[in-house]
Amino acid sequence: MINSTNVFWQDCTVARADRTALMHQEPLVLWLTGLSGAGKSTLANSLAQRLFDDGHFVYVLDGDNLRHGLNRDLGFDEADRHENIRRMADVAGLMYDAGLVTLAACISPFKSDRDFARSLIPAGKFVEVFVDTPLEVCEQRDSKGLYRRARAGEIRDFTGIDSPFERPTHAEVTVDTSCSSPTDCADTVMRYLAEHRLLSSRLASSPDKAAQTR
Ligand code: ADX
Repeated sequence: MINSTNVFWQDCTVARADRTALMHQEPLVLWLTGLSGAGKSTLANSLAQRLFDDGHFVYVLDGDNLRHGLNRDLGFDEADRHENIRRMADVAGLMYDAGLVTLAACISPFKSDRDFARSLIPAGKFVEVFVDTPLEVCEQRDSKGLYRRARAGEIRDFTGIDSPFERPTHAEVTVDTSCSSPTDCADTVMRYLAEHRLLSSRLASSPDKAAQTR
């Protein structure tokens, strides 16, 4: 439902191209999807650290963290999950416009929502990373104790238990943290970015300088 009427787009004389030229980087959105406990946040953090060390301006949008603020009014029924991802996607789009390399880590269980997020970003600059760790492994890890509580009926609408997860069918990268180490998973994503020439930064283009700075 659109309630915003009689509103007008305001342009700014400082454009995305000006910002990215100043930062010496091309913006990018990495969208990490998968079950709770799949390893999305760990992977996002590891990638953010590597990209930062290579001189990229990065930001992690973590589903759990956004639910502490912007999305704190939302629960986990289907309508609220759609709204959660609509907001997350919109923020990722703003960060793209700001010139950042953004890592969004959220379950985002519905294909239509992930496709919506993709639609906000120019073609080729949205990289869907499916963290395809099997439910049994996520449930066994149960680092937050939520699977146990969902099985006990204390939490409803839990993804993978009594709420669906629509598996991505055309993710750019798929990793499985149950059979690959966190380092190997991060390597796989970084290799994709390098092969598709999606990385550019002052440091990355100057290996000597990068070495000096570390
Ligand atoms: S999403 O489905 O709307 O994309 P999001 O990534 O923001 O979810 O938040 C998922 C996190 O919320 C999980 O990692 C977990 O810590 C917590 N959580 C609490 N209740 C649920 C639930 N019913 N289903 C899944 N995750 C839940």
